[in-house]
Amino acid sequence: MSILWESRFALRTQWVTSSLIRELLKLTQKPEVISFAGGLPAAEYFPVERFQDACQRVLANQAHQALQYSTTEGYPPLREFIAERLCTQGVCVGPENVLITSGSQQALSMLGALLINPGDRVLVEEPTYLGALQAFSLYQASYVGVPTDSDGICTEMLPEALRHGPKFMYILPNFQNPAGVTLSAERRIELTRLAHEHGIPIVEDDPYGALRFEGEDMRPLVAVDAELTGGVHEAYTGNVIVLGTFSKTLAPGLRIAWIVAPRQVIAKLTQIKQGLDLHTSTFNQMVIYEAAKDGFIDEHVDRLRHVYRRRRDAMLAALDRYAPPEMTWTQPQGGLFLWLQLPAGVAERAAFDLAIEKNVAFVPGSAFFARPDSPPTARLNFSCMDEERIVEGIRRLCGVIQDMQAKRNGDAPNRAE
Ligand SMILES: Cc1ncc(COP(=O)(O)O)c(C=O)c1O
Repeated sequence: MSILWESRFALRTQWVTSSLIRELLKLTQKPEVISFAGGLPAAEYFPVERFQDACQRVLANQAHQALQYSTTEGYPPLREFIAERLCTQGVCVGPENVLITSGSQQALSMLGALLINPGDRVLVEEPTYLGALQAFSLYQASYVGVPTDSDGICTEMLPEALRHGPKFMYILPNFQNPAGVTLSAERRIELTRLAHEHGIPIVEDDPYGALRFEGEDMRPLVAVDAELTGGVHEAYTGNVIVLGTFSKTLAPGLRIAWIVAPRQVIAKLTQIKQGLDLHTSTFNQMVIYEAAKDGFIDEHVDRLRHVYRRRRDAMLAALDRYAPPEMTWTQPQGGLFLWLQLPAGVAERAAFDLAIEKNVAFVPGSAFFARPDSPPTARLNFSCMDEERIVEGIRRLCGVIQDMQAKRNGDAPNRAE
């Protein structure tokens, strides 16, 4: 008798649907497509030689350890390296506060397992990272959305949102995915103060903070919280759980990331991780550590910041030149993305289909909202195309939107194509 598989799936699987972004990305794989859709770092800048050396060093000096099972918490020198770097930002944490994960995506899923009972509310920014919505939804989360503007989440709306009793807040403070905006210093203080007042944990997801092109680095929420809770000089016991990753600063393929949290949180997450994968790849942790150490990661990030800055500038200049009236966009000071508000009446999915016909791709903004009625928007990635392709892609995309506007207004279509 053949099995009707769907009838055997656990109820929680009804909360996970196939990610639109991944489905759409399939359409963007053709080499002729100028893709602003992925969230990929520039592969041509991966530090390949440094990784070759690192692999050789690990295999020459520590092969038995590297190829063996290891502890769930992670490779001790790597945990120490991560803790030390966070300490320089004003939080007193040690390696015992660090748990290495297989990508931050795994960390999000583990936090879902740790914090979310079916029906629990998670306070999220609107828009927010799609992968977090996917991870939390498997645990049957519902969401309280709070709008963002150019200074990040609108903290003046938080008191009202907090009345819904969220279990925790999921916050992307730097060059947010998808909108590219950064939480202002004042709002960091207000957000952390409110979290403290209401006793609500903050999950601070920060894959992009190191990729700043201009302006001053902002204090992480965990450091703002450490000041409130006395964790600057004494072991941190505050309200913030921080996620970091090497995906955007070295390479995503190794899948090495981390969670920093108070010790009792790390202890429970360690038990959860044991059931998931025992531990993150020992070899990959050792290779990342060998590659990152002795100042290499900072030198490399400096290079990336220059490249991505040029690409961002190319995209902003092309938008200034080609964008039709009524279209607006964010001005990211770092990271990988910017966010378009499409003109009223221009449906984002129709714009996507027409853009694909012109071999240009972006991600329709609705993918990043937990609610069904989002405004017409689009996420554009600027890190993985050279400047020439960026300008050409923006020219074509703006042409498509202009044509849609003209059709809406009953004018003759744009012939600049
Ligand atoms: C905000 C955010 N969190 C987490 C992740 C996942 O990163 P990782 O490659 O470490 O799993 C991403 C990846 O794009 C991201 O943008």
